[in-house]
Amino acid sequence: MKDFIFSYPTKVYFGKGACKKALDTELKNVGQNIMLAYGGGSIKKNGIYDEIMTLLSLANKKVVEFSGIMSNPTYKKVQEGAKIAKENNVDFILAVGGGSVIDSSKAIGYGVVNGGDVWDFYDRKRTPQSCMPIGCVLTIAAAGSEMSNSSVITKEEGLIKRGCNSDVCRAKFAILNPELTMTLPPYQTSSGCADIMMHTMERYFNQSENMDITDSIAEGLMKTVKKHAVILMTEPDNYESRAEVMWASSLSHNGITGCGTDGGDWATHKMEHELGGMFDCAHGAGLAAIWASWARYVYKANINRWLQYASNVWGLDIDFEHPEKTIETAIDMQEQYYASIGMPIGLKELGVKEEDLAKLALDCSRNKTRSLIGYKPLAYEDILVIYQMAYERG
Ligand code: NZQ
Ligand code: ZN
Repeated sequence: MKDFIFSYPTKVYFGKGACKKALDTELKNVGQNIMLAYGGGSIKKNGIYDEIMTLLSLANKKVVEFSGIMSNPTYKKVQEGAKIAKENNVDFILAVGGGSVIDSSKAIGYGVVNGGDVWDFYDRKRTPQSCMPIGCVLTIAAAGSEMSNSSVITKEEGLIKRGCNSDVCRAKFAILNPELTMTLPPYQTSSGCADIMMHTMERYFNQSENMDITDSIAEGLMKTVKKHAVILMTEPDNYESRAEVMWASSLSHNGITGCGTDGGDWATHKMEHELGGMFDCAHGAGLAAIWASWARYVYKANINRWLQYASNVWGLDIDFEHPEKTIETAIDMQEQYYASIGMPIGLKELGVKEEDLAKLALDCSRNKTRSLIGYKPLAYEDILVIYQMAYERG
């Protein structure tokens, strides 16, 4: 097991009464001027907007609303939010929504307190030194932004989607009420579950050894999400399944499944971010469309790891004479599983055309200047082949 540092700076309030319990306590610890950040309006349909506004008013907070944050949130929207936050002397952001709202709030938080152009942080030209404090009320189990140190923003010019990782942006508290996710459309539920599985798998497929505890947590997460995503397809109001998936969202991306490893792979995420930037697809759907092609391309770099996955996650008996057969069966099963919950398994389903593939690979390899360093290093040519394989899948 490799050395690691693990900290949990985000306080989690989980369950049906979480919002009141959390805000009654936490609002005492934050400033007077609060930005309430949210998306396209789903929070007004499930009652959480009214509940939060009441609690903010009871706490005598001055509220400035910042709404209309879109999926794959844009740099322009972040700039707009930062301007409003500065004009209103905002000192705390309450993000109510999913990854897009929370990520935008983190970016606004960077923009307000660091000065200069916030895109520099996503372009890796500068490192943020601090961030305005944020708290979040999660309404979709997916990106894991509620506990992660990441945020991902798309610059309209060039349709470039980039992430920035820094511990300074971690939420002070996260409110996780599974009931809030019952209004999700099935596609968003599935896309979220695909993302959660991928945050676990990106870390799981690494070249480290001797990490039984971390592997067991990861395998448990994958099996749990696999089971409950299927239940949610027919029982969207199933509280227990919503709860399992919601907690998995946070655990899959708060770092616990990476402890003691070399950090994992992340190639599928990096390839998906190019898709999200260019095609504005749901993030988890983009991951599902690429993953099996990536897996088939790289698995030979560590056969034993993939056999462990085939056995422990998919329950396959290992064919020691033909181990590759076992692994390919497991990859097929994961791919079919994604299809069974309504996820795409190929790029055409996302509107990608054959002529787009080279641009995707060029952008992902930063014009052939970077390789994706992970489980197996991937240069431009490799990335292009994986996009082509994913395109051929449909
Ligand atoms: O905008 P509203 O009306 O709220 O609708 C949203 C949106 O259309 C809807 N929704 C959310 N909660 C709902 C609901 N609809 C009905 N009922 C509810 N309870 O769902 C749609 C998707 O929301 P979004 O926030 O975009 O989803 P997600 O959480 O999947 O976030 C995706 C973004 O997060 C980034 C992705 O790249 C993408 O930009 N990621 C962020 C990460 C991080 N910060 O750690 C890591 C991830 O790997 C990912 O890259
Ligand atoms: Zn993700």
